[in-house]
Formats: sequence, C-alpha cells, structure tokens
Amino acid sequence: MTTHKPFDLPSLKKEFHEKLQRANSSEELEEIRVCYFGKKGMIQDLMGALRSAPKDQIPLLGKEINIFKEQLIKELEQKINSVQEKDLSAALEKEKFDVTLPSRLRTQAHPHPVLETIEKMTDILRSLGLKEVHSNEIEEEMVNFDLLNFPQDHPAKDMQDTFYLNEKMLLRTHTTTFQVPMMRRYEPPMALFCAGRVFRNEEVTSRSHQQFSQIDAFHLGKGVNLSDLLSLLKLFYKKLFGDSVLLRFRKSYFPFTEPSVEIDISCIRCAQAGCPICKHTGWLEVAGAGMIHPNVIKAGGHDPAVFTGWAFGMGVDRTLMLLHNIPDIRMLWESDARFLNQF
Ligand code: DAH
Repeated sequence: MTTHKPFDLPSLKKEFHEKLQRANSSEELEEIRVCYFGKKGMIQDLMGALRSAPKDQIPLLGKEINIFKEQLIKELEQKINSVQEKDLSAALEKEKFDVTLPSRLRTQAHPHPVLETIEKMTDILRSLGLKEVHSNEIEEEMVNFDLLNFPQDHPAKDMQDTFYLNEKMLLRTHTTTFQVPMMRRYEPPMALFCAGRVFRNEEVTSRSHQQFSQIDAFHLGKGVNLSDLLSLLKLFYKKLFGDSVLLRFRKSYFPFTEPSVEIDISCIRCAQAGCPICKHTGWLEVAGAGMIHPNVIKAGGHDPAVFTGWAFGMGVDRTLMLLHNIPDIRMLWESDARFLNQF
C-alpha cells in the first residue's frame, strides 16, 4: 500500500473499484475489507501518512480521507449484500427440501403433574355436575377458622400451625375456606368445588410439606343428605382409580361438619394384599367429609332448618403419589427435570 502516493485518492479509488468488480465471493470481499480497512490496511496507511503532511493541510486532508473511507465502505457493503443474495438464491436453487419428512423429535412442555392431577380429579367432579369456583390463597383468619366453626382455642389456630401475614391475614390452611364466602354469594341449591394450594407450617419430610394442593366441594340445598355424598364419592373414586376400588367410611371429627367421616379406599397398589404404601392395612385414607355444620350454614347466611348440605375435602398430592408410585412428596416441588420429564 505504501507504494501509492499518499493522497492520490482518485487513483486509489479506481484501483478499489477494479478489485471490487473482480471479487465474486464472500471470501474475496473479506480479503478486500482487510486490505483496505483492517488494522494494517490502506486507510490506516493514509492516516499514518497524514501525520507527515504540512500542519495547515492536516484538517482538510483528514476530512477528505474520511469521506473517501465512508464511500469505500458503503460500496463494499453493497457488494457484500449482492454477493450474499446471489449465494443464497444459488443455495436455495440447489437444495431440495422434502417437506414430507417427519420432523426431529422435540421435547414438548406439559403441565406439572400436580396440575395434571387436579385436572383429572376436577374433570370428574365437573362430569358429576359440580361447578368450579376459585378462592383466595391469602385469607382472613376469620374465614379460615372462625366462620368454619373452629372453637376459639382450637390448636389448629396456633401461630405455629400456619403462616400469618399479620394479625388478621394468613395463608389458607385448607380449601374449605371457600364454603362461607360462596354461600354468602349464591342462593341454594349450589354444588360447587374449589381446587388450589394450601399452606401449613409443618416440618418438610418425605410425607409432609409446607404447601400442597386440595380440592374441596359442597352441595347445599333442600333435603341434601349423607347418602347423596357417599354415592357421589363412590362414583368419584371408581372413575379415578377404576371400578374395582372399594370405599370405607369411618366416623371422624371436623369442626365444620356434623356428622364427620373419614374416607378410605382399598389400596390401589396391592389390592388389599398388604404393602408398605397402605402400611399392610389394605386401606388408604383419602378424604374428609361430612354434613355441613348448622353454624357454618348460618355463617353463610342461610337457615340450617331449611337447607342441609354435604362437604368433602381431599388432598391432590397424595392421590398423585398413589397414581404414580412416587415415594417422596418433596419431589413434587423440586422442579427437577429428571423427575418431571417422566410425566
Ligand atoms: N379441611 C379438611 C382438612 O384440610 C378436610 C375436609 C374435611 C374438608 C371434611 C371438608 C370436609 O370439606 O367436609 O383436613
């Protein structure tokens, strides 16, 4: 490059044009770029030579070099674009795609297994005629306990057992919280369910967690009775686990139901032969239920002498663990792809 007279820009431009015209590939154009605009390229040489020019001419000459450089860059870019376009159409011309070939297998996102289980369980409830409603995860202590007929000094209200956000608000400990607000909102008859996350201040172990999911349902109306509930639950569990599943009801206690029952199903892992899952009893505890306590119906703004209702609540996580033989509840919350990809 130094063989050129430093500022004979017109002849440099001519030479550049000739080279540009001859270049027909990206590689050749890259060579030109380096030769002219690279660190040791011609433009740098010109800048070097500028330093030895008479002082008073430097600003003008510098400006000329800059204009010259801009022009050359523009022309080079135009040529690069046209060569790339030409290359692309040549490649498209040459390549033939077989659009009928099956695509490569791609991993596809899917709902979390807990969500999938909620869908499975609530689909059955929908098919049995119940309607879905939603309820708050952050709830008033009053709604979580008092309106559900918990006695003032009930141990479940202990600060240790739940997460209080302030004096009055907490993270709901069960989805049963939806009962009174819904009774206040609607007129009987109503048959509703609510699914969602609940929270308890428990030690995290393979069998218990501080957050899990529940589904609660209730039916309030005239003449609603316990045998309605028992037959609905039988249908529900047969649809969920298959026709051979057996149900057992044991009397129990919940503040918001009277009478209260606990529901067991025959162990779906061992068909009652006895296994570690059912602790060799042949039975698995799956839900709590009962007839809605008159005080709860009153809190909901209705007359318990006129309306009666059943209610039940069931855990989702345990059901999922049973369905898929999952040994540790913590796996449901760890977001480990090796676990989740199995669903
Ligand atoms: N809320 C109870 C729990 O979390 C479960 C339950 C029992 C819900 C009986 C109900 C019911 O609606 O009637 O343990």
